Amino acid sequence: MPQLWQGRASKAVDSRVNDFNSSIRFDARMIEQDIQGSLVHSAMLGRQGIISRQDVDDIHKGLHSILDDLHSGALEIDPNAEDVHTFVEQTLTARVGDAGKRLHTGRSRNDQVALDIRLNLRAASEHIQGQIKELITVLCDQAEKGAGYVMPGYTHLQRAQPVTFGHQLMAYAWMLLRDLGRLQDATRRMDAECPLGSGALAGTTYPLDRFYTAEQLGFAAPCGNSIDGVSDRDFCIELCSAMATCMMHLSRLSEEIILWCSWEFKFIELDDAFTTGSSIMPQKKNPDVTELIRGKTGRVYGDLNTLLVMMKGIPLAYDKDMQEDKEAIFDAVDTLELCLRTVTPMLATMTPLPANMRRAAAKGFINATDCADYLTKKGMPFRDAYKCTGTMVAACIREGKTLEELTLDEFKQYSDLFEDDVYTAIDLTTCCEGRTSYGGPTKASVMKQVADVKGKLA
Ligand code: ARG
Repeated sequence: MPQLWQGRASKAVDSRVNDFNSSIRFDARMIEQDIQGSLVHSAMLGRQGIISRQDVDDIHKGLHSILDDLHSGALEIDPNAEDVHTFVEQTLTARVGDAGKRLHTGRSRNDQVALDIRLNLRAASEHIQGQIKELITVLCDQAEKGAGYVMPGYTHLQRAQPVTFGHQLMAYAWMLLRDLGRLQDATRRMDAECPLGSGALAGTTYPLDRFYTAEQLGFAAPCGNSIDGVSDRDFCIELCSAMATCMMHLSRLSEEIILWCSWEFKFIELDDAFTTGSSIMPQKKNPDVTELIRGKTGRVYGDLNTLLVMMKGIPLAYDKDMQEDKEAIFDAVDTLELCLRTVTPMLATMTPLPANMRRAAAKGFINATDCADYLTKKGMPFRDAYKCTGTMVAACIREGKTLEELTLDEFKQYSDLFEDDVYTAIDLTTCCEGRTSYGGPTKASVMKQVADVKGKLA
């Protein structure tokens, strides 16, 4: 396919330049959006009397036939076309003749591509939002089941205070809810301004109806500045940033899953269908899915960096550098989609092992704060109670005991304030269920969180 732009040149372009310049191998995925934009643009040209009704009919017939062939699988996308815009226009012209040559009236590939990416990312964002909702639902379901499973909560990866498995899982549900909000915000802003009609950069002398095209294509309004219209890739950066943040959350969750299914923890068992083996070690059951998510997170950060660096030094308006936006943003979309479609069923099929969680919670003195709180509630200033409990913990470590294994006499050696009720106060379930502050780890709080989060999804 020749280029659309053999204007002033006296020679054909070197084939190496053509290969270098071409974007069809990664922008062909915008073909539906490109056609959608052309359908609306040509309808507007007809309404405004810029092209004839007959031309509009021919263009629409041709574009629909291309769409039909795309859907039936009959359309062969020419890998030698410069880009998807060239391919569609030339295919159209081959099918309907001169009307096809009128399609590009009052339009440039600069505003066309700015439109196509937006439309493409709008669909991608909606799909990802649906996937995130599914993942949140699975987390809520697992949290509901594990609402009463006491496990150690960690800081510095050291056993810290008792929490419930449900509470820990719901922490991720809240993160993902924010991710959803960020994607919705980014998409809303992306849908606010339609670039179509900006032309190459300076608008056009044709009497375009930009409000009509903006409205038809699902935008709130046409963009207010044609130079900004063709130069803006903020929406790619914003969306990519939201996706990178979501990957960060998935990566942290993955890291915990990896720890939890190790023999050192064994808080969960992953379904065999979501693990892999080793070619030499017959006993192995590896959490490859989560490791890949952790690894792929770096890749999406890289995509965001590509976009930010690509945009930072280019003068207004369109520069060819901007063609690099697509590989980066599409890679981020594909990576996040792939991770979400795999992690969700993996979490849905995972089996929690509450007895192991409880066993881990019994070691590591995670009820020490509760012991100090017990003394504080009996009248000892908290800082003294903290010191006293610290001394007790040090002694227990020396003697290989837990706090609850001390006799009342032994307790009393540290403070007269200790009574028989200390055993209930430092019992793991009491410690966890006693943390009744709003947003805490109790079973009731987990159930409330599940209800709140599900309410926000609806
Ligand atoms: N393939 C190009 C891109 O993705 C389309 C815009 C081309 N515009 C131009 N002035 N060369 O950016």
